[in-house]
Amino acid sequence: MNAVLDIHLTDGDADRALRADAREGLTSRPKQLPPKWFYDARGSALFEKITELPEYYPTRTEAALLERSVDEIAVASGADTLVELGSGSSSKTRLLLDAFGRTGTLRRYVPQDVSESALRLAMDALAIEYPDLELHGVVGDFTTHLDRLPRGDRRMVAFLGGTIGNLTRDERYAFLAQLRAVLAPGEQLLLGTGLVIDDEVMVRAYDDAAGVTAEFNRNVLHVLNRELRADFDVDSFAHRALWDAGNSWIEMRLVAQRAMSVHLAELDLTVGFAEGEEMRTEISTKFRPDGVQEALEATGYRVAHTWTDAEDRFALTLATAG
Ligand code: SAH
Ligand code: AVI
Repeated sequence: MNAVLDIHLTDGDADRALRADAREGLTSRPKQLPPKWFYDARGSALFEKITELPEYYPTRTEAALLERSVDEIAVASGADTLVELGSGSSSKTRLLLDAFGRTGTLRRYVPQDVSESALRLAMDALAIEYPDLELHGVVGDFTTHLDRLPRGDRRMVAFLGGTIGNLTRDERYAFLAQLRAVLAPGEQLLLGTGLVIDDEVMVRAYDDAAGVTAEFNRNVLHVLNRELRADFDVDSFAHRALWDAGNSWIEMRLVAQRAMSVHLAELDLTVGFAEGEEMRTEISTKFRPDGVQEALEATGYRVAHTWTDAEDRFALTLATAG
């Protein structure tokens, strides 16, 4: 098979990072956990189910935008290497790979994800579907491991799905600047961002009727129970999604349905939850188009083109490292 997998995040690294994040997040006020810990094999599978929900419009909106723009992107790009950060199942990426197949410049695809299980599943399928493409998977964290991405003659980095919205403003600017620092002038970034739309539509996308997002949210507690020998009574936490207009983000929380004391044996830590106490598990920032442009220009990119759908729900921005 024409495929390699680099592990930049070993089980030991991930374990140390989870311990640090859990200790810090569960002892702060209000309590919070970073969203990257949703994505064990079960969490990644739940995310895939989310993308098919009638309420979760971002995936299908971005896919439709890609369908419209991939040929233009592939021609403008001329990339020999497509890097994708937080690639997950690489589903929408196939649209890009097919378009690059038509232009004939692309040699290599580099999917990078923190979830080794999701990455392996995606690579196994891609190896069969794209036998002539070099696959170079990277298990890594896009907030810390960008400097270890493989080089190419001319790379395009795709960061799709609105995943940049899961970072705070400071994290977002730091991420864009770090990425810019490892790109050569002329290399490109293709960025997908969710836009601000009607509050109710946005909240419903994160609080679906079938309860899949609720299960995805609670999955982080299963991860802590397994990895840190914690004893969260997962069913005693309710899912909540709300729109925070001041911060321009959807926030997901877990709400303790009763007072509880939770022990994390691996951390030798016991934390108390009051009845009704809320813990933040994810932010999902929604942007105004000029906000995306401003962040890119402030961190050393030049915007080449922006595509939005007819309802202005999602934007795809092609930017060049200046
Ligand atoms: N790009 C895909 C998947 C989005 S889900 C799409 O658009 O549908 C977010 C993906 O980012 C998951 O696969 C998750 O495992 C990964 N992820 C989350 N935090 C990450 C981090 N800090 N570094 C690398 N990957 C991360
Ligand atoms: C991966 N990320 C962009 C998703 C989002 O919409 O913020 C994760 C998600 N959380 C709940 N539903 C989907």
